[in-house]
This record gives sequence, structure tokens and C-alpha cells, in this order.
Amino acid sequence: MSILKNLGLKNLKRQLYNDASILDLKTGSLIMNDVYADLKQQFYAQVPWPLKSAVLNEAIKAFFNFLDLPLDIKNHIDYSIAPLHRRGSIGYKRRESDEHIYNDNKDFFHYHPSIFERYPDFIKSQPVIEEFLNQAKPIWEQAYQTFYSILSKFEADFPKLCDKVFNIKDVHMALRFLKYDWQNSGHYLAKPHFDAGSFTLAIAESTPGLRIGSKPDDLKLVSHSDEHAIFMLSSNFKKVIATEELHAGWHDVIQLDKSLIGQPFARWAVVAFLEVANVEAQPRSMTHKFYQGVL
Ligand SMILES: [Fe+2]
Repeated sequence: MSILKNLGLKNLKRQLYNDASILDLKTGSLIMNDVYADLKQQFYAQVPWPLKSAVLNEAIKAFFNFLDLPLDIKNHIDYSIAPLHRRGSIGYKRRESDEHIYNDNKDFFHYHPSIFERYPDFIKSQPVIEEFLNQAKPIWEQAYQTFYSILSKFEADFPKLCDKVFNIKDVHMALRFLKYDWQNSGHYLAKPHFDAGSFTLAIAESTPGLRIGSKPDDLKLVSHSDEHAIFMLSSNFKKVIATEELHAGWHDVIQLDKSLIGQPFARWAVVAFLEVANVEAQPRSMTHKFYQGVL
């Protein structure tokens, strides 16, 4: 089954895409490097991201408009697509660093397309939210296609991988829109950790600062190549890719521009988290295990 058919995107909106040759619009497959080899060598891979940057910019603008809404409106969308997963909750969350030893100051929203079925009347009555969700939709769909293209390349060595991940009613993929507070944070914007799911796609960030490795002493600063997103493995990947050759991406986000500390400016990022259906998430003690500051 082609990816586009799988998504029901028969009338793909071509105006959303760059003209670059990284996406075959007929089949939906992406032309990419040897992701496995890149993961083995550097614990992440640059993978094609063909959506125009204007699509992301509009979505970020809509996300910031959403953040200006009253708290009770922001909190209205709240449900889980996967009770066993820490990334399963859909909707808005605010985390304060002093609320929990592992958390950083941040606002985020997890988008999943099932929102439209769950809250049709509420969405219609809230134009700011409707606009944000409509802007988020093509980004979620592109993240789905990108994950599918990557994992289908792994199928020869890990049979039925795509079935285990995608052949369920609500694919367990949340698209996270994230705003960090700069005025309160120090060196770390995000403390070092493994992600809780199976696979992560770092789609875009307002400024560099993401570092990826396999453990604390091999972290390297990573910048997005043009028209590419950054794929890495998360703590649970071995439930479906049983190999000792690959490692989950240990990562953090650091503040590179010290002059911005204390300024009323926020760093934003867009990240997709994909989890294999019906597997239990790793506990926080595992996903943050190398972070000596809290253990
Ligand atoms: Fe992360």
C-alpha cells in the first residue's frame, strides 16, 4: 500500500511542498541516505523533510496564538491515545522545573488527528484553536510519511516492523509543539535524557542547541540540514528493532546565546514522537539515567 493511500491523501496539496527531488509525490516515498549506517555512526540521521518552511512558520505562529488563550480553554482538549505511554496524552501541558526534578520550564501541545473526531463542536467554537489544529495537520501527516519511509527501509532486517507500528486504528504518534522559557533556565533548556517512545523526529527548532550522542561524553551539537529533519531512536526502540548495533539518542538542549538569558524570548521546537502500539514505556529512572544532577 502506498503511503499516500494509507493516509488518504489522494489529493496531496502540492503547494505545501518544496520542488526538491527528496519526495516522490506519486508514491510518497522519500529519497534518503542509509539511515541505519548514520544511526550506527552518529546516533541520529538527517532525513528528508519536504514541507515548505512557511507551513511550519504558520503553525508556530498559530501555536503562539493558542498559548495566549485563557488556561481553561487551553486545557479543554485532554485525552490519551495510548494509556501505557508517557507520550500518549494529547492536548496542552505546562511544566515548571520546580514541579518535578526531571522537568524543564516549558509549554507544549501534543497534536493527533483524532482531536477532530473527539472535539468537533468545541473546535468549531474556538477559531484560534481551529486555526492551530488545521496548521498542525499537514505537519503530522508529513511526519507520518517520513517515519513510514524510514521504517519500511528497515523491514528487510526487522520483519513486520511497519505492521507493528502503523497497522492500528490510532497510530501512536504525537506531534509536539514546544516553547521553552529562557528567562528562568540556565545552561540546559532541556536536561539530558533519552526520549520515552520508540522513535523521534526533531522537525524544526528556532535556534540551534540540540546535542545528540549515545551517552554524556559523546554529545555533539546537531543542526538541521536544509529540507531535512533529524531522526533518532528513543528508549523503547529495542521492542521492535532487536540489535546491539544501534543506540537510543541521548540528547539535551543547551543555551548557546548567553545574551538572551533573561530576555522575554522563547525558544520553540516541533518534534514528532512515535511509539510502538501496546508496549509499556520505560520509566523515568531509565530515560534520564545518565543525568547525575538528579539521580
Ligand atoms: Fe527529548
